[in-house]
This record gives sequence, structure tokens and C-alpha cells, in this order.
Amino acid sequence: MSPTRNVPIVACLSGDGIGPEVMAEAGRVIDAAGELFGIRVRQVHLPFGGDAIDKHGDPFPAHVRAAVKASDAVLLGAVGGPRWESSARGPERGLLELRKELDTFANLRPVRHAGIDLMVVRELTGGLYFGKKELLEDSATDICTYTRPQIERVARWAFRLARRRDGRVVSVDKANVLSTSKLWRSVVSELHTAEFADVRLTHELVDSFAMNLATKPQAYDVILTENLFGDILSDLAAAVGGGLGLAPSASIGSEPPGIFEPVHGSAPDIAGQGEANPIAMILSVAMMFTFGLARRDIGRAITAAVDEVLAQGTSTADQVSGGRAYATWEVGQAVCAALGHHASGGAEFQRNPYREVAAHG
Ligand code: NAI
Ligand code: MG
Repeated sequence: MSPTRNVPIVACLSGDGIGPEVMAEAGRVIDAAGELFGIRVRQVHLPFGGDAIDKHGDPFPAHVRAAVKASDAVLLGAVGGPRWESSARGPERGLLELRKELDTFANLRPVRHAGIDLMVVRELTGGLYFGKKELLEDSATDICTYTRPQIERVARWAFRLARRRDGRVVSVDKANVLSTSKLWRSVVSELHTAEFADVRLTHELVDSFAMNLATKPQAYDVILTENLFGDILSDLAAAVGGGLGLAPSASIGSEPPGIFEPVHGSAPDIAGQGEANPIAMILSVAMMFTFGLARRDIGRAITAAVDEVLAQGTSTADQVSGGRAYATWEVGQAVCAALGHHASGGAEFQRNPYREVAAHG
């Protein structure tokens, strides 16, 4: 949060399809957390994606751009849908411009499910997706470039995260073939030696790593990789981790605001029916508190509340097998209720250790 502001501002971009439905539950959880932890968070709702095309003829209008830049964190639902597929500047354009505007270079995708507890850290601004492209009649080219600073800044995130977790990073590349991967491997290794020797670093080649991730995901802690590999591997990780309904993400730049959003899209097939799973969105709220608003205590409490609700079997149709399928709002409500059981751990965490030491001489 900006040092001059004591009420953080969250820009809420609900977007399209199930976006508004899951955002409504995110808002409830933020309010519940605010009450339990005694803080105020201002939620500012703004049109984005197809919704903004309908209202303003642009997926990322200038006034939304300005509000987003002035916020402390951006919560995003999802954008897109068949209705806007023919738009020249479609909803996805808004998403790309938002990411570009905030220069979010590290995409964090945690997976916690059935003994799996891993975090994919994907580089988001370099590599094939941003290199020079050429499409001719009978040939096509995509240039893949990485620079040392681009690799260092995302690797730093991975190492720092590992220190808070199980202390292990696997860096995934294709260093037996690609020059960018050779540079990637040496920069990650050098940074490790210079600043993070306490973290355990290993390297794996992307092809055999994909097999390992599919067959023994429990073996991994932090997974660091470049843009294209990360795009594919993070979806694989979500699939082995219980599916789209449970997968949150954070995209972080060198300063706030970061973008916090579920991995899933706007799910037009189930939109408006109250059956979308709000957990991926709610876990994105947890990441927002942890990484965006420097309130790891609240992030942890929300995550614990989600775990409790899932363990009780209070789940939407995508997660239930046999039992009753709960509605979006019922799952959100259950998380708010469970949050009450986990808020006390937060209070303890917040105690200022320096003051404690002083008080005891
Ligand atoms: P999708 O993620 O929207 O849906 C894939 C499948 O998963 C669907 O069967 C859907 O019903 C289900 N699903 C997704 N989220 C769910 C949830 N929270 N609860 C229960 N079921 C859920 O991906 P799809 O169908 O490929 O794309 C639909 C639209 O979303 C497209 O316009 C696409 O461009 C857009 N999209 C937007 C993204 C974003 O805003 N970041 C990411 C991915 C797709
Ligand atoms: Mg993807």
C-alpha cells in the first residue's frame, strides 16, 4: 500500500461470464476479513473486457486504466465470450494491455491439493511471445529472446518464495538445445551462488520435467521457468491440482499494483447459473492479501478457511462426486463463516516481535 494511504484500494475488474459471480464472493470474503482483522479495504468496481466494450466501446477504457494505476491491487474475474469474438479490439486485448501497463513479469501459480504443495513461477514478459514475428506464405518465424535482467528478476522471486516454503527451486529449461535456455540456466545458477546458496536449486529439462510433474507432483516445491514453458506447465500443474475451479494466480511487477485472478476463463457454458466455483477467485484474494497488501496473516487465514470448507465437502458441481453440489454463493458464505475460525492465528502473527522483546526487557 502507498505509505500515504491507510485504506488500500482494490480495483475489482469483474469482467464477463462467471467473472461477476465469483467476484461477488471475493467481495464478501474481503469484507469478512476486514471485519475480523479490523482493517478497511476499499473495493472499486470497474468495467473491463467484454463488459467494457458494451459500455464504453473499449475493453480497457482510459478511466479504468487510470483507476487501475492508482490502486494498490487489481482483482480480476475473467474476460471473453462468444459475443465479442468478432470485435477488432476484443476482451483479451484488454487483458494483454493491463498486464503490459503494470509490467507484471512474475506469474505465481500455487497448487495445493492432495499432498501436492507447489508454486509455479513463470516469466511473463519475455521469450517467444514477445519476440519479433513474421508470417509469410510458406514460412513463419518467432524470435525468442531473454536478457540477463529479465531472468534475474523472476528468479529472485522464485528463490525468495522458496525461502518462505520448503527451500527448494527446480529451474526448468531446454538447455541441451536452446541458447536462451543456456543463458537462463547460467544466470539462475550464478544468482543462486551469489545470493541464495541456502536454497536447494536443481535444473530439469522441460520434456522429462513435464512427465515428472504429471506423475509425481508431490516431489516439487517452487518451479521456475520461462514464458512458453510456464504457460504449458502451469496448466498441467492446475490439472493435477484439482482443476480450474481451484487454481488462483498472481502476476507481480517491480511495484504495486499486482494482478490477482483465477486461472480459469469466463466459462460462458455455466455463466449466470450460480454454479461457478468461487474458490479459485477466493484463493486469488488470499494471494492479494499476502503479496499485494503485505498481509500474509490474512492470506493464510483465507487459505485455511478454504481448506476447511473443501474438507467439509461444501463444493460446487465441478468438485463434488456423489454429494450435493452447492451454489456459488453458498461456498462463498461457507468460506466467510470458516474465516472466523482462522482469524485468531492472524492476531498472534501481527504482534510486533520488537515490541515484545522490549516489554520483557
Ligand atoms: P474456461 O476456463 O472459461 O472454461 C473451461 C471449462 O472449465 C468450462 O467447461 C467451464 O465451465 C469450466 N470452468 C471454468 N471455470 C470454472 C469455475 N470457476 N467453476 C466451474 N467450472 C469452471 O475456458 P474456455 O472455455 O476455454 O474459455 C471461455 C472464455 O474465457 C473464452 O472467451 C476465453 O478467451 C476466455 N478466457 C479468459 C481468461 C482470462 O480472463 N484470464 C483465461 C482463459 C480463457
Ligand atoms: Mg494459458
